[in-house]
Amino acid sequence: MKKKVKVAVVGATGIAGQQFLASLLDHPYMEVKALAASERSAGKSYRDAITDPSGAFRWYCQEPLSPEFAKIKVQDASKFDARSVDLVFTAVESDAAKQLEPRYAQTTPVVSTASAFRYEKDVPIFIPGVNMDHDRLIPVQKKNRGWKGFVTPVPNCTTMGLAMTLKPIHEAFGVLQVLMTSLQACSGAGRSPGVIGLDIIDNVIPYIPKEEEKVEVETQKILGTVSGGTVTPAPFPVSATCTRVAVLEGHTEAVYVSMKKHATVEDVTKVLEEHGKDFVALKLPSGPSSLIEVTGDPYRPQPRLDRDRSEGMVTTVGRIRQDHALPNGIKYVLVSHNTKMGAAKGGILVAEYLVNKGHI
Ligand SMILES: NC(=O)c1ccc[n+]([C@@H]2O[C@H](COP(=O)([O-])OP(=O)(O)OC[C@H]3O[C@@H](n4cnc5c(N)ncnc54)[C@H](OP(=O)(O)O)[C@@H]3O)[C@@H](O)[C@H]2O)c1
Repeated sequence: MKKKVKVAVVGATGIAGQQFLASLLDHPYMEVKALAASERSAGKSYRDAITDPSGAFRWYCQEPLSPEFAKIKVQDASKFDARSVDLVFTAVESDAAKQLEPRYAQTTPVVSTASAFRYEKDVPIFIPGVNMDHDRLIPVQKKNRGWKGFVTPVPNCTTMGLAMTLKPIHEAFGVLQVLMTSLQACSGAGRSPGVIGLDIIDNVIPYIPKEEEKVEVETQKILGTVSGGTVTPAPFPVSATCTRVAVLEGHTEAVYVSMKKHATVEDVTKVLEEHGKDFVALKLPSGPSSLIEVTGDPYRPQPRLDRDRSEGMVTTVGRIRQDHALPNGIKYVLVSHNTKMGAAKGGILVAEYLVNKGHI
């Protein structure tokens, strides 16, 4: 029996924060001991904090809100004492994370969904089953900064599916360049201000501020190698176009990869299907039964039909084809759940791995 791990969720009232609560309910060893958010919510019960003055209850998860969590009094994140828990999950925008996360990390490990620290030299961006060996940066980060804890972010939700699928392709065939166009769900924009209905209904929005740069840089860092206390990024360029579409949850991505070695559709299918078996064998509580599932149905993957496979923790890949425009080209479509594997539950899975390895 694992020792109980006391956790706090900061940014608990937002879209990603709510998903943390949905995924931590009945967790075998993580216990939610504190919730925090902005001054706006501080001092209210969690239920009141997510209820609008109009009476509208703004709980966005499919799972019901636990009555136990609903009663917890939300704390002001800027005053929250991280020493009261063993682990902090943060789900706030980058500007707030920049202030809050280093303060918490002085005493306590932080697993973050925010981008604030993703690009720092001594900070790993973890994807379960892809680059958990980057945990070698954790002691470096603690030493560099004089912290007892640390900050380990998960990637941008669009990077998640892309880097997950590129990892086995890069290992087997060597990636030379990557082109990707995303069709991203509205929940990815968060709760406030979120995506305005008038903008997105009957529409596609061809720009998401800062998103393309994040995907390009993060993918190279995640698939890079750790040496000398930092990450040397993977050498191949990534070019992304990120769009917003009228889908609630689940990001779809059309990916084109040029490779060093020629590979058939069957070769690529095989390496994708076999990816991450060692990680899955750890049987971590939030882990899926496989990290990637490949479908042969030419009309899949679709966000509505595939995002919830393995409780939103699997990347579904379909439409794998030879690409004739790129040298040794291959192309495919993927769907990855942006608020589950791409944010909260992916963060919990990272934390479970770090607990197993003794970092928490
Ligand atoms: N949504 C996704 O699919 C997704 C996926 C991956 C990563 N992320 C990342 O996760 C983070 C949260 O995103 P979200 O979509 O959940 O946003 P959101 O729905 O807008 O929620 C923002 C949360 O931050 C809190 N907050 C705002 N200002 C704060 C401050 N100054 N101090 C403390 N708390 C503050 C809010 O509390 P109040 O309710 O009190 O205002 C709320 O709990 C972002 O960094 C985002 O990039 C999101």
